Amino acid sequence: MKAMRLIDIDGPSLDMIETIMDRAVALSKGSEPLSQTHTIANVFFEPSTRTRVSFEMAATRLGLRVINLDGERSSMTKGESVLDTLATLHAMGVELAVLRHDQTGICHELSEQLPSSLGLINAGDGCGHHPTQALLDAATLTAKGVHLSEVKVVICGDLRHSRVARSNVALLKRLGVGEVGLAGPEGLMPTSGSGFDGLRHYDNLDAALIDADVVMMLRVQKERMDASDGRLDLADYHRHWGLTAERLAKAKPECWVMHPGPMNRGVELSAQVADGPQSLILDQARMSVFTRMAIFEALLS
Ligand code: CP
Repeated sequence: MKAMRLIDIDGPSLDMIETIMDRAVALSKGSEPLSQTHTIANVFFEPSTRTRVSFEMAATRLGLRVINLDGERSSMTKGESVLDTLATLHAMGVELAVLRHDQTGICHELSEQLPSSLGLINAGDGCGHHPTQALLDAATLTAKGVHLSEVKVVICGDLRHSRVARSNVALLKRLGVGEVGLAGPEGLMPTSGSGFDGLRHYDNLDAALIDADVVMMLRVQKERMDASDGRLDLADYHRHWGLTAERLAKAKPECWVMHPGPMNRGVELSAQVADGPQSLILDQARMSVFTRMAIFEALLS
């Protein structure tokens, strides 16, 4: 039987996206999870705290059998490919793999090559996509009563290397968001044709924040930069692009602050904003478990 996959935000139908978001919100309000008897594997070849733990917690709450494979301690270190690793796990009985890898596009490639009976969830591929993060971000806003069609969302920071931003833009567009504005240093703006076309770019955060209902701050992803990105002075970055309480006051008074994590306090946002009353950062972490439960339910039921 053909298994279901979640590789990017363009894959699932709008109906399925809305089902996942509604179900995540219902689960967060105490709805009973659907019990599952499948076996899934979390296969992580890149560091992760939120995604790995929340997928494991989501699976456990649904009663799924969970295998956790740490890429750095797998036989990949002896030269085995990701494709052979996943095919091996599938032969042993794994029905769905959750994969994080630093190679952009690897989940799309594997999706062409793997047996169609193996389910696959992209848990972040290099600078590519992070669809489950976008779904949990949208579910977090929905749970707060935000009507996405009526809001202005600003996404600020290292857009060029951000799979989170790419998936969020794709999802917000599909959900008919009012407006998405992009802000960040010229050198960290996305290249054309990379999923961000047609959106307004702001050359300073203060201007971007005017009338904003939601601001998503992004981490500066030094691990994805190369020599062509130049040297980044983090104190200077914070001065120009960091979200401080003073800057946040330029947005609407009830503007929500989001960050997918991991965050660097004092770089992309101040500790005062991260811990302040408008911050949804820990709400995102909480909703990550419910959203990933809803995703498992949708893909495995
Ligand atoms: N947001 C996110 O993907 O965080 P982790 O890298 O900790 O999983």
